[in-house]
Amino acid sequence: MRVDEGVGSRVKLLYFRIGEPMNLRVFQDALDARVARHDLLSHPFYQAWAEGKLSIGQLRAYASEYFHHVAAVPTFLSAFHSRLGDGALRRAVLRNLAEEEVEGRAHSDMWLDFAEGIGLSPERVRNSPPSAPVRDLIAHFDRSAREDSTAQILAAFYAYGSQVPRISGEEARGLLRHYGADAFTCGYFVLHTYADIRHSQIWQEQLGRVVVRDRKLAEPALDAAERAADWLWQALDCSTANRLCAFSTTAA
Ligand SMILES: [Fe+2]
Repeated sequence: MRVDEGVGSRVKLLYFRIGEPMNLRVFQDALDARVARHDLLSHPFYQAWAEGKLSIGQLRAYASEYFHHVAAVPTFLSAFHSRLGDGALRRAVLRNLAEEEVEGRAHSDMWLDFAEGIGLSPERVRNSPPSAPVRDLIAHFDRSAREDSTAQILAAFYAYGSQVPRISGEEARGLLRHYGADAFTCGYFVLHTYADIRHSQIWQEQLGRVVVRDRKLAEPALDAAERAADWLWQALDCSTANRLCAFSTTAA
């Protein structure tokens, strides 16, 4: 779960030496180290998923809750996009937004395929109220996209996107191996095993450009990345799906 706090602090000293050019490699290592402090794959909920220990009710609770976050991701991108000046970054954000919404199937619709595959109607999922932890998670990303600096937003997007491919891979594997899921049910996760590799690379490259231009933005960006990783962890930790999981583990 939480890793050695010293890693990020030590590398921080290296890229902040005044008068020397920014060491981008060291900054990116620090970024990954800060995100890894809240590595979602090590969360007990995802571990139970990978081992096939979640009940169908727990999977359904997760599908209903996290639909709202998946559906909100394009709104974070559009809020960020609307604040950017003309240039490569604005176009990169729009490209990502288009991929979420209109190129191929909308990702929120693909999430509903997953929900349908485990026995939930799209209407039921759409009409389910988001749980408080997921509402908070959405509010955090929404506020960040509207108010934070470009470096902080890119760092928060990276903290999310860089974890998605590994998590999606485990989710797809778990569904196929333990729950007899078909390709339709797993489509969202299979897509995200590779789609977000590219997206998170873009966030990382763009963030690198921003902090090389102005190294004072590096430390707030690292803080933002860790904060976002923590929001994601907390949301899962407090979610209904995880509380059901913890309850059933205790009860067993
Ligand atoms: Fe997506």
